[in-house]
Amino acid sequence: MQPVQAMKTDKPFLDALGGVVADRPPVWFMRQAGRYLPEYRELRAQKGGFLDMAFDPAAACEITMQPIRRYGLDAAIIFSDILTVPMALGQSLDFVQGEGPKLGELNVSALNYSNFSQLNAVYEAITKTKNALQSEGFGNTALIGFCGAPWTVATYMVEGGSSKDFMKTKRMMIEHPDAFNSLMNILIEASATYLIEQINAGAEAVQIFDSWSGVLDAHSFKRWSVKPTQQIVELVRAAHPHTPIIGFPKGAGQKVLNYAQSTGVTALGIDQTLPTDWVARTLQPVLPVQGNLDPAYLLAGGDAMIMAAEQIIGDLKNGAYVFNLGHGVNKETPPENVEALVNFVKGR
Ligand code: CP3
Repeated sequence: MQPVQAMKTDKPFLDALGGVVADRPPVWFMRQAGRYLPEYRELRAQKGGFLDMAFDPAAACEITMQPIRRYGLDAAIIFSDILTVPMALGQSLDFVQGEGPKLGELNVSALNYSNFSQLNAVYEAITKTKNALQSEGFGNTALIGFCGAPWTVATYMVEGGSSKDFMKTKRMMIEHPDAFNSLMNILIEASATYLIEQINAGAEAVQIFDSWSGVLDAHSFKRWSVKPTQQIVELVRAAHPHTPIIGFPKGAGQKVLNYAQSTGVTALGIDQTLPTDWVARTLQPVLPVQGNLDPAYLLAGGDAMIMAAEQIIGDLKNGAYVFNLGHGVNKETPPENVEALVNFVKGR
């Protein structure tokens, strides 16, 4: 079964999520704003830290617009982070340059909504960016809001930062299932509220990043990636039935099929480990897909990048499809490579 053909709008990215098979795929990149752009590094040097910029609506809008002005992408993603939610729930958060995020001690029973209004800065940034896209002549570029999936956000909350083996989080999941369940329930509700407010502010699609879903065993994947995502989708749909929701269960391998069938997401983000011929046969008949060039090709650039992109587009162009990477833009990436890739995709 092919996805239902939707009416075409003036936004090719939204059309693709609605099932339209386009002449050339719409294109945007995860982490398209940020450190690889000199204009971002310049602003960061003036403004201070990453969080200062993410919670400054004018700065967040400016940074979101930077790659759009350079490349004219089909979607902008609001400049923020998935860890704003734990912070808004009362867990301290700091980004130490070169070391990544550092979160304070987690006390599940102390998490609360009294500072959730901090996130108003993100909603304000979304409204500003929506207006900037219009006024600067990018009326065909859609604006994406996002959150982390509960499992991925929980790993940062429990580990206190990034992790390699996620043992602290897995031990909590196994040894203290009640506390873990409470944490996940809080994150489901907070994430759904966060997405609904982003849509109220002007986000036209949302993406749920489950960056670490791939480290879960098959049973835990259903319980802690699929089910919480399905609950978020249900809550968001109740408020905004027509806003597309992209699920990105990175690293999930063949478990993506169950995720695609059970979560209710509108479209599926795929990482570079999934073979695109298999995706075309197995996933694309169920849902529009988005992905999956290895960011290493974008870092390297040149003919190898173009050939890899050509192969992916060749496999996925016959169904509803959005061109993207399999994960975020690497911070050493030359901006010229991004420009060359966008021009190649747009020129097809
Ligand atoms: O895609 C975009 O352009 C929008 C902005 C965005 C950021 N983070 C900005 C950011 C998005 C969508 C995210 C999501 C995010 N954040 C994820 C899910 C996607 C993924 O990459 O798997 C995760 C796991 C995080 C958590 C996070 N934020 C980590 C682990 C780090 C430190 C590591 C790193 O890459 O620096 C961040 C910091 C962060 N988030 C930066 C940016 C631009 C770097 C801040 C800086 O030093 O300037």
